[in-house]
Amino acid sequence: MRITFKLIASLIVSVALVAWFFAFFQVRQEKNKQYEDMERRSRLLAESLQESIEPILGKRPSKQLQRLVEKFGNRERLAGVAVYDAHESPLAITPSLSSLLPKPPAVVAKSVGHGTGLGEFRGINGIEMHLYALPLKKNEEAAGALVIVHDAAFIRIQLGHIWRRTFFRVLIQAILISLITLIMVRWSIKGPVGKMADWMKQLRAGEAVEFISLPKEDLLAPIVKEVGTFAQHLVRAKAAAEAEAKLRQAAESLWTPERLKEHIRGKFQGKPLFMISNREPYMHLHRGGKIECIVPAGGVVTALDPVMRSCGGTWIAHGSGDADWETADPQSRIRVPPEDPLYSLRRVALTKEEEDGYYYGFANEGIWPLCHIAHTRPEFRPEDWNYYQKVNQKFAQTVLEELEGIEEPCVLAQDYHFTLLPRLIKEKRPDAKIALFWHIPWPNPEAFGICPWQKELLYGMLGADLIGFHTQFYCNNFLETVDRTLECRTNWDRFSVTKEGRSTLVKAFPISVAFPDASLDLRPRNAPEEGRAGLLEDIGVKAKFLAVGVDRLDYTKGILERFKAIERFLEKHSQYQKQFVFVQLGAPTRTHIKRYNDFLAEVEAEADRVNWKFKTKEWRPIVFLKKHHSHREIQPYYQHADICLVTSLSDGMNLVAKEYVAAREDNGGVLILSRFAGASRELRDALIINPYDIDQVAEALRSALEMSPEERLSRMRRLRETVKENNIYRWAGNLITELTEVRLNQKPAAEVV
Ligand code: F6P
Repeated sequence: MRITFKLIASLIVSVALVAWFFAFFQVRQEKNKQYEDMERRSRLLAESLQESIEPILGKRPSKQLQRLVEKFGNRERLAGVAVYDAHESPLAITPSLSSLLPKPPAVVAKSVGHGTGLGEFRGINGIEMHLYALPLKKNEEAAGALVIVHDAAFIRIQLGHIWRRTFFRVLIQAILISLITLIMVRWSIKGPVGKMADWMKQLRAGEAVEFISLPKEDLLAPIVKEVGTFAQHLVRAKAAAEAEAKLRQAAESLWTPERLKEHIRGKFQGKPLFMISNREPYMHLHRGGKIECIVPAGGVVTALDPVMRSCGGTWIAHGSGDADWETADPQSRIRVPPEDPLYSLRRVALTKEEEDGYYYGFANEGIWPLCHIAHTRPEFRPEDWNYYQKVNQKFAQTVLEELEGIEEPCVLAQDYHFTLLPRLIKEKRPDAKIALFWHIPWPNPEAFGICPWQKELLYGMLGADLIGFHTQFYCNNFLETVDRTLECRTNWDRFSVTKEGRSTLVKAFPISVAFPDASLDLRPRNAPEEGRAGLLEDIGVKAKFLAVGVDRLDYTKGILERFKAIERFLEKHSQYQKQFVFVQLGAPTRTHIKRYNDFLAEVEAEADRVNWKFKTKEWRPIVFLKKHHSHREIQPYYQHADICLVTSLSDGMNLVAKEYVAAREDNGGVLILSRFAGASRELRDALIINPYDIDQVAEALRSALEMSPEERLSRMRRLRETVKENNIYRWAGNLITELTEVRLNQKPAAEVV
């Protein structure tokens, strides 16, 4: 109220000032114009009178001259005319003027002296008059002067009118403009701000509020952004506090981001965490003339970004986006997540040759098929191996730079891209506590044994103090592989390997997802466009049942087998034709590798083949959406699909299975899960299938659709309990506890033989 009053008062004052100045200049301009006009008229009159006077001008007053002067003196606004001789004695003067000009005015002498006509304004008896004097000649000699006197009082009166008219006109205009401005301000600022305040009030009061569409006005954009982030934090903090309170009541021990943060604070005592992976969590790309930031698809990012958000620190990864270097600082660092920075991302640049040899070549055409039993033959090329070593050294160098000045730093390296990194770091920083987490399966020793550099890989890995796998089965395979390949002591009771006086602990840590997913708390739920009908309409099909698959387009994911199973299902249970649709969200991946490129074409061809067989005008059984989908874009599919199909031929864990479960707040939906995915060891309430058994998968589809609602609910409830209990925060908490409790052998590994 006070602000509005101040605003109105200052508007009135400034508007009045503007009007005053405007009127002042207008009047000044008009006054000059009127004065010039009067001067001009006087001059013209004087000149025409001069022509009549000079021929009859004598040395004394004459009747003829007096008559002439009186005749002229009758004109409008003319106060009178006077004629003086060379000695300024009056020769003739209009009667009205003789009382006003008892003496010749000074302008007469001035004009005679200058030999030209001169005018002046002066007050006579309190009236403003204009006097114009013009010298007179007789026989080419100065013979006197004539004076024309005008009443100029009317000018002031006119100026007064102009002043008032202009002032009020401008005042009214300015008041109108101000009023409109006030209404606009009220409409475009007060309204949205009020709406925002109401929304925040509801939020504070704990009422169930949706993430309303906040105002989009440019003026409010920075506030809106901050308010949005602030509200997200508030909702998260509230949810965490509620969860904690519930836990305290139930004496449970669920891991939350806050609990992890506290846990890490206690364990690290203020030291940062160093995460290393090949894939970066935030990638900047040029798209349509703009720079966009995307979160790449894949398990590592899905699992570890929530951990880094909770504990902070530095994540070191390959900067593979084409706009990555424009967005990072000169030290190749950038704070992320972009909308709410919580940790640092340090990007490592690789040359094209390095990326080809290390990433596409050795890691993804060598180790990847070696560890995934999916019948793609691994390729081991010496030149790729050279680049793989070189890039591991490059990353090790970057990590060592980051570790400088930090005592006993904790380093968490990820995956098969960095088998050599643990030892490279340990050799230089024996005080570093290093963990390597392996995100893919570990095969049996015979399968692994075909790698020409198996010894080097294992030796590099054993530079870590802790090696984590998703399942106990992979730990067993690893220990057996080490046992058969290297000269070392394997301890099957403790699950550790001792080599050159240093021990490495091998342990299972089943990775998971953020549950509940705080980043999605403010999403509008059940908004019409996100309902199933809306989803299907968007992709141009009509169906009663929806199943979904979400994968990187990788040959290990069993996508072709999945399509065949759908074909079989529709053949065997034709009542589901036109009723059932399967949406495959597929993110292209590693497309520079021929096998992946071929696979993409195979998936497209297989989808076409099955669709051709069954499709009608308004329906087709498979919708293949080939693009990178953001977490938010995927959520509605998870939330509305009757079935999620995970049919990996071989998979370390598969986080899609867990994401689907985490998204089903309604306890609905059925998960069909491959027994060859690590997740099948935990998610026992899924329908577990062998993806190679096409009939079995087809039958699982039918059972999922025909399952009683009670069974579906109780299965999903149990699955959710499992994922909630074993969420990503527990994974990180356990891994970090284990790592910080490692007893270090301070001797550099290289010195101990
Ligand atoms: O899960 C194994 C993995 O290689 C992860 O390291 C990565 O997040 C995911 O697959 C995606 O692979 P890429 O980073 O090669 O696209």
